[in-house]
Amino acid sequence: MILHDCRVGREVIAVCAAVLHRPDFAFVGLYCCLEKYRGRGVGKKVWDACMEHIGTRNAGLDAVPGTLELYRDKGGFPIVETRWNCVMNETENPINHEALSDKVPIGVTIEPFQDAFLASMSEYDLALMGYDRKLALRLNCKEADSKTLVAFKDGKCVGFGTIKTSCHKCRQVGPLFADDAAVAEVILKRLIVSLPNVKGFAMMTINSNCPANDFMKKIGCPVTEEYPRLYRKEKIEVDTNKVFAQWDLNFSPH
Ligand SMILES: CC(C)(COP(=O)(O)OP(=O)(O)OC[C@H]1O[C@@H](n2cnc3c(N)ncnc32)[C@H](O)[C@@H]1OP(=O)(O)O)[C@@H](O)C(=O)NCCC(=O)NCCS
Repeated sequence: MILHDCRVGREVIAVCAAVLHRPDFAFVGLYCCLEKYRGRGVGKKVWDACMEHIGTRNAGLDAVPGTLELYRDKGGFPIVETRWNCVMNETENPINHEALSDKVPIGVTIEPFQDAFLASMSEYDLALMGYDRKLALRLNCKEADSKTLVAFKDGKCVGFGTIKTSCHKCRQVGPLFADDAAVAEVILKRLIVSLPNVKGFAMMTINSNCPANDFMKKIGCPVTEEYPRLYRKEKIEVDTNKVFAQWDLNFSPH
């Protein structure tokens, strides 16, 4: 939902996104209002339109610092994930990807994305998330200025990761999912190497996934913010030990 101010050439003044992932689950994000319009009921309008779009579904969101009480106490998202938070790791400075291992576990191969891999990647993603994201995966892997690497063992996908150039013109990794931290580490290193001419680095981890946070320490990428996860009705269950980088802050639960 986007709200314009028609008096000033349809300037966008507020946005909120609510993506319907499943018949019973949505994810909400991007909630923002231009500073000069805040406190006048504008933000609440786009929010209410998104809530109407979601209907009675369960929904999740990641709360930026200072907004947890708003969503929990007023916004209808009373369930707070207590087992983990999302962690934004971000820097404009050079990172030391050399510190990451390039040792691929025996029997595993890591290959650049090709269309033929989509079926086994979707199967992996479905087993992790519990619902089909084939279309979103395809779009992710084909995004301009992005690279995706896929890990296989015994002919089956055992992980994959994507690096892209963010709207801030920095390298951003996500999603990065794998069964084995050693595989995730190699994918991460090779993804960073594959985009050498883009400055800066960002990756959103989960604070309970220790190897992922160790990777950030190794490459010298600091934590900038933490975001608690909130839900409307109930927590969703995903094996976060396999989630080394979140796909996105605003549109997807993992
Ligand atoms: C959060 C933000 C979008 C709110 O927009 P806003 O236009 O200032 O808010 P409104 O004027 O529409 O708020 C009107 C009322 O609705 C409430 N309200 C706003 N958003 C709400 C929500 N999501 N759920 C419930 N109530 C809400 C407000 O608290 C306010 O209540 P009050 O009158 O009792 O004080 C705005 O402050 C903003 O852009 N902040 C910076 C970005 C940010 O932090 N976004 C959150 C990302 S997680």
